[in-house]
Amino acid sequence: MNYITFHNNVKIPQIGFGTWQIPDGEVAYDSVKFALDAGYRHIDTAEAYGNEASVGKAIAESGIKREDIFLTTKIHNKEHGYEKTVKAFKKSLELLQTDYVDLLLIHWPNPLASRDNWEADNAGTWKAMEEFYEKGMVRSIGISNFREHHIEALLKTAKIIPHVNQIRLYAGEQQEELVTYCKAKGMALEAYSPLGTGGLLSSEIVNTIAQEVGKSAAQVCLRYDVQKGYIILPKSVTPSSIKQNLEIFDFELSDAQMGKLDAMENICGPTKNPDETTF
Ligand SMILES: NC(=O)c1ccc[n+]([C@@H]2O[C@H](COP(=O)([O-])OP(=O)(O)OC[C@H]3O[C@@H](n4cnc5c(N)ncnc54)[C@H](OP(=O)(O)O)[C@@H]3O)[C@@H](O)[C@H]2O)c1
Repeated sequence: MNYITFHNNVKIPQIGFGTWQIPDGEVAYDSVKFALDAGYRHIDTAEAYGNEASVGKAIAESGIKREDIFLTTKIHNKEHGYEKTVKAFKKSLELLQTDYVDLLLIHWPNPLASRDNWEADNAGTWKAMEEFYEKGMVRSIGISNFREHHIEALLKTAKIIPHVNQIRLYAGEQQEELVTYCKAKGMALEAYSPLGTGGLLSSEIVNTIAQEVGKSAAQVCLRYDVQKGYIILPKSVTPSSIKQNLEIFDFELSDAQMGKLDAMENICGPTKNPDETTF
C-alpha cells in the first residue's frame, strides 16, 4: 500500500474506499466489510451519506484493529457553525462506534443553510475542528469542495492549515489552478469521483490505453490519479471491482499516456460551483 504524508506527518493510505450513494444497511455493511477483507485500510464516508452506522458496524466487526484503519467523515451542510459542529461530530462518532476519526472534513464551503453567513459559519466549524484535533478526537482536519476564495477566507482565522482538500479530480477534470494553490499551501489533494462516478469508463481514450497496458479502464483512471500524487477514493458495491481497484500499484502509465489523459475534455458533466449549490 502506498501512503501520502500530510503536513502534520499523519500518513494516509493513497487509496480509500468511497461510500457515497451506498445505501445504509446490508449493502453498505457488506461493501465496507468486503473492502476491508480485500485489503483497503482507508474508508471515506460522510454524515450526508447516511451510512455512518453501517460503516462503523463493518469496521467494528472486521477483526481489524481500529488504529490500522484510516477513517474519514465530513461535517454535514446543515451543521455549520461552532455549536452545531460539536453536536454533529459527537453523533458521527457514536454512529461510527469510535472515539476518534483520522480525518474530518467540512463537506462543502457554502451550503444553502449558511449562504448568508458562510465565512463566519466556516470559521466556527473550523474552530470546533481545531479543538477536536487538540483533544485527539481527530488526527487531521481538512476541507472539501473549497475553492481558493473559500480557503483564503478560512485562513483569516484558522490556526491550522487544512491538511487536505477533497475535490473532484480525474482525467478530464484537472482543476489545475486550485491544485497548484492547495499544493503551495502544503495541503494534500484527495481526488473524489476518480472514475467520474462511472462516466469515465466508456471513454475511448481511456479504453485504448487500458488495452495498451493490459488493465481495465477503471485501473487506468485510478493509476492516472496515483501518478499525479493524489489520494483516490473509488466507490463500488461490486466485489470484483472493489478488488480490482486496489490492483493499480504494479504498472505505470508512460508520459505519452499521461499526456493523452491530461488532454481529455470533461465528459462527465461540470463540477458543481460550491457557491451555487442547492443543498
Ligand atoms: N466530498 C464530496 O463532495 C464528494 C463528492 C463525490 C464523491 N466523493 C467521494 O468519492 C467517492 C467516489 O466517487 P463517486 O462515488 O462519485 O464515484 P467513482 O468512484 O468515480 O465511480 C463509481 C462508479 O464506478 C463504478 N465502478 C467502480 N469500480 C469499477 C470497476 N473497476 N469497473 C467498472 N465499474 C466500476 C461503480 O459501480 P458499482 O458501484 O455498481 O460497482 C460506480 O458506478 C465517493 O464514494 C465519496 O466517498 C466525495
